[in-house]
Parts: sequence; structure tokens; C-alpha cells
Amino acid sequence: MPRPHTTIFHVSDVHVGEIGVTLDDLRMILDRIEKKAANVSSPLLVVTGDLTTEGLREEFEGFSSALQGFSVPHVIIPGNHDERNYGSAVFEEFFGERFKTYQTENIAIYAADSAEPDNDAGHVGRVKYNEMRDFFNSSKEKVRIFALHHHLVPVPHTGREQNVVEDAGDVLAVLDNTNCSMVLSGHRHVPWTWKLGDMVICNTGTLLSRRVRGATTQLYSRVELTKEEAIISLCYKDATERVFARAPLRA
Ligand SMILES: [Fe+2]
Ligand SMILES: [Fe+2]
Repeated sequence: MPRPHTTIFHVSDVHVGEIGVTLDDLRMILDRIEKKAANVSSPLLVVTGDLTTEGLREEFEGFSSALQGFSVPHVIIPGNHDERNYGSAVFEEFFGERFKTYQTENIAIYAADSAEPDNDAGHVGRVKYNEMRDFFNSSKEKVRIFALHHHLVPVPHTGREQNVVEDAGDVLAVLDNTNCSMVLSGHRHVPWTWKLGDMVICNTGTLLSRRVRGATTQLYSRVELTKEEAIISLCYKDATERVFARAPLRA
């Protein structure tokens, strides 16, 4: 296998503030990621929301304190739990804009806040479509990645469908028309990978929440990108790992 040009550590649904979720565990896993990042090209941490449980300042402070000194570049967006109690204002104080972009010579990420205050449903919104089109159309030579909290396509093993992005059809059309390569999302606490046309859709699980489903346990995903493909591995809290999916990347 060619050496990956980029390795993304995809973390989601940490849920600081939930009973059983400790900052020590969060620091331990960030330490592990930092050690792995030292041995790969262009490492990046992407956190797709639900940093907290109730969107409270003390929870954001806890998450932020665990990140102190963390040396890997990171892109962090909020989830529906972070928008509880109008937490978006506190999120911005600690982690910057709720919509943001990140680029290297090999990848271009558009990260969107799909959450709204006191609403568990997901929504991107028409007002953002042109910005997304312009961004991906200007990144044609790179792996184009759309990151958000909510899922754009239902995830298996999660029971009755809830909270799929309300404008998912229109968002998927924008992504497909602009040759987006990959979607990173969370929210359902279950990892899954879909191939939709030429796009790879990667949902990851919860990093630390006890609210897992079925046989799933706490984990994050590692996404290794070569010129030709994405290799998605699941990295469990007990430090075991396994390759979950491989998918060709559109040119
Ligand atoms: Fe969550
Ligand atoms: Fe969520």
C-alpha cells in the first residue's frame, strides 16, 4: 500500500458531562492520537460534535482543558448537544467559528454546524450551498471532505430513523455535483461506511459515551488517505484496532 499522504483521526460524540465520561479518559485517548500522529504524514484531528452533554460552559471548559498542549492540528464543530442551553455561544468562545474550512496541499475540508439551538434535528441550510459549491469547486485537485455532526444517510443498527439531516437530499446533491470525495459525521454513536455514487460516507461512533447501541463500543475512526483510496480503521477505547472499510477515492 502506498504511504498515506494524510491521516485523519475522526473523533465524535465525546459527551463531556455525561456520567462515566472522564477528562482522564479523554486525555488518555488524545495522548494516544498524538503519539500515532508523530509517525504519519499530515495528521489531523476532526471532532464532529457533541463535545458536551448539555452545552454548558463547565463542559466546554473540560473539553478545552483536555486539549491543552495537544500538538496535532484540529478542526472542531458542534453537535446538537453542544447547542443545548444556547451552548453555541460558548462553543465559539473556545473553538471558533461553527462553520470552518481547513486545507493542506492534499485535502480540503468544509466543516458545517448542522445543529440548531435546543433542537436535536440536523439541518445545513440553503444559505450555505453556494459557499460549499465555491469551496469544493476551487479544490478540484484535492481530496474534498465535508464534515458535520448529523448523518446524511441513515445508519444501520440504530433502530427507528431519527434526526437525519432535514435537507439531506439537497446537501448530497451539492456534494455530488461538486465531486466531494468523502463525508465525516457522527451523532448516532454507531460507526458505518456507505459508498454513495463516487462518495464515501463515514460515520463514526462515540468516543466515550456509555450510550452505545448493540455490540458497538466506544471508539474513534482513523481515516488514511492515499491518492487512490481511503482506509477506515476503528480504534477502540481499549486500544485495539481493526480495518473497517476500504473505498476508492474519486479523482
Ligand atoms: Fe451524541
Ligand atoms: Fe448528536
